Amino acid sequence: EKGGWATYMDKEIHEQPHAVADTLLGRTDESGRLVLDEIRTTEERLRQVDRITFVACGTAAYAGMVAKYAIEHWTRIPVEVSLAHEFRYCDPIVDGNTLVVSISQSGETMDTLMAVKHARELGAMTLSICNTHGSTIPRESDAVLYTHAGPEIAVASTKAFLAQITACYVLGLYLAQLRGETYADDAKAVMHELQGIPEKIEELLGRMDRVVEMADFMADSRAVLFLGRNVGYPVALEGALKLKELAYIHAEGFAAGELKHGPIALIEPGQPVFVVVPGPDTPHDLHKKVVSNIQEIRARGARTLVIAHDGDEDVEPFASEVIRIPQCSPMLAPLLAVVPLQVFALHLASAKGLDVDQPRNLAKSVTVE
Ligand code: F6R
Repeated sequence: EKGGWATYMDKEIHEQPHAVADTLLGRTDESGRLVLDEIRTTEERLRQVDRITFVACGTAAYAGMVAKYAIEHWTRIPVEVSLAHEFRYCDPIVDGNTLVVSISQSGETMDTLMAVKHARELGAMTLSICNTHGSTIPRESDAVLYTHAGPEIAVASTKAFLAQITACYVLGLYLAQLRGETYADDAKAVMHELQGIPEKIEELLGRMDRVVEMADFMADSRAVLFLGRNVGYPVALEGALKLKELAYIHAEGFAAGELKHGPIALIEPGQPVFVVVPGPDTPHDLHKKVVSNIQEIRARGARTLVIAHDGDEDVEPFASEVIRIPQCSPMLAPLLAVVPLQVFALHLASAKGLDVDQPRNLAKSVTVE
């Protein structure tokens, strides 16, 4: 049932173009406008939303972090991201116009379920982004937006993560459309680009030979660092999480701007550091800033493993390795940039002879607090 793949994780990584495409399926009408029929709430109700809080755990929370950048950019609605177990036991500020969006592959994560119940008690409107039909969290929520990644068997989340990010984009673009014409035109354009992403993931998956080789010869690494900025920051966190849980290697993700506030002290000759580089057309000169972050760590001897867009030559002088991803607009880049990091973690764990689908101490669905 692994369809020729050695592991479920390998299979699921390769199902990602479909996971994204299926999550986008049927969300637009002929004119390209978003329609969310299944969402179980009304446009009037969603128009009242003046604040959004994401609640989730682990990889799903990183999808929420990507969503924060994208949805604030597209809608100008303030967005917060809370780890579900932190949200539940703090004094969250929510009211009837707050949309609390939970993200969960299984729909059974107890921490996330408790956060949703808490949000409802406080009078918030709750929406569940979930991959499992009929599971508990969507049943306990006012509204639902299903991801269509198909069943995810490997403990480490891959295709569900891409589907979660995709659903978050769909939600954000829908809210943008509800905000009126200017926003709606932009939403249409982004949605159009989003439809082309599955093909780019497919292409990217065909270029992973070098990443697999890197994973093989890095099997003895003691620590690996990951840097990113903006939407690349949660991608760095996710790359680190995948490596921890699958390969049992100490791995940490940082916002690249934090380097000089402490983490740069970790850089010594030979230290591998993945850097997620934003596309050259990213606002606020972020591309240039990340390139100079690479330069800084390279000068201190780091092995710089750089994930950059096709055609971005600026990274070449400072990169020990360049991993190329197809060009796309800045907000959508996580759907591509995370793929080499998943492949890297999978193959490094395999090189160490570990059980990729069933890492130690972990369960697919965490139904206890
Ligand atoms: C990491 C991973 C976990 C889950 C988290 C939430 O690879 O799988 O971090 O993302 O336990 O699970 P769900 O999405 O089922 O609520």
